[in-house]
Amino acid sequence: MHKKDRRNFLKNTALATIGLSSTTAIAKGKALQDNPPDCVPTTLDYFGEGPFYSDNPPALIDNKVQGTDVGGEPLIISGRIFDLSCNKYIPNATIDVWHANPSGDYDNRGFNFRGVTNSNEQGFYLFETLKPGKYLNGSQFRPAHIHFKITPPGFNTLTTQLYFEGDEDIPSDAAASIDSGDFDASQRIIPLQKNAANQLEGTWDIVINGEGLPVGINDLHIDKGMIYELLPTPFSNQLTIKYGVFKKAKVSISVFNIIGKRVSELTSATMAPGKYEAFWEVPDTLTKGHYFVSLSINDLQVHYLKAIKQ
Ligand SMILES: [Fe+2]
Repeated sequence: MHKKDRRNFLKNTALATIGLSSTTAIAKGKALQDNPPDCVPTTLDYFGEGPFYSDNPPALIDNKVQGTDVGGEPLIISGRIFDLSCNKYIPNATIDVWHANPSGDYDNRGFNFRGVTNSNEQGFYLFETLKPGKYLNGSQFRPAHIHFKITPPGFNTLTTQLYFEGDEDIPSDAAASIDSGDFDASQRIIPLQKNAANQLEGTWDIVINGEGLPVGINDLHIDKGMIYELLPTPFSNQLTIKYGVFKKAKVSISVFNIIGKRVSELTSATMAPGKYEAFWEVPDTLTKGHYFVSLSINDLQVHYLKAIKQ
């Protein structure tokens, strides 16, 4: 495993859990207890904002980056924004993204593949776009990347870039290959996985100076419990949530919509350690789109997974 912060490790574990025995996941979760959380601030990119930023980009509509009708690989990026302690999440941070189209060109006249979104009331963000193509920087292709300007309310903007694991142009790129110091890019190279709808998905949490709201002693206590799997994904009329509780505790499962409003609380009870399933009869009135299923143990959110309603 690459050098990664604890949270990325947890995310990867969560993704890797699908198809693996839950014992493996539990063992990994327990092993983590002995390690102090490694909370790594998100770094600047060595190339800064680059030459292709356009002022006053539009707000994203339905979390979609404009320009996604041209063909290419659908890509969903999501994550949560934390303050520098990683014990607080930051709602309403501005997230300004821009990138090349699937052919490797920037739209420098209009706003295709440019837009602004915000972290929601729970500190989560999400946007849909197409995987950026590559463009030449001198005689060398830059690895595929997405530019970000992240601004927590009342705090400074962090300008950086996000890369994708396995890109063969990373080692030769002057920015993406840096693996230590102020411009360390190693926390900004994320794995992408195809979901059931054949879209690439990647998770990237951002750790930044800002004013946050407490999420508890630590955020993702998978030593207390975790969600193993959501079935099916995408879902329509019914969603099954497979989860584990590792200590006797008050347990609740909730579903939040993209703006962070709770749309359902499925379970709320004191439960013994074990593996459980929750079933959600999805109301017909629920709008299509992205949702977060969250597991709370003793009122502390310990884990979440995303699900798409189709
Ligand atoms: Fe770029």
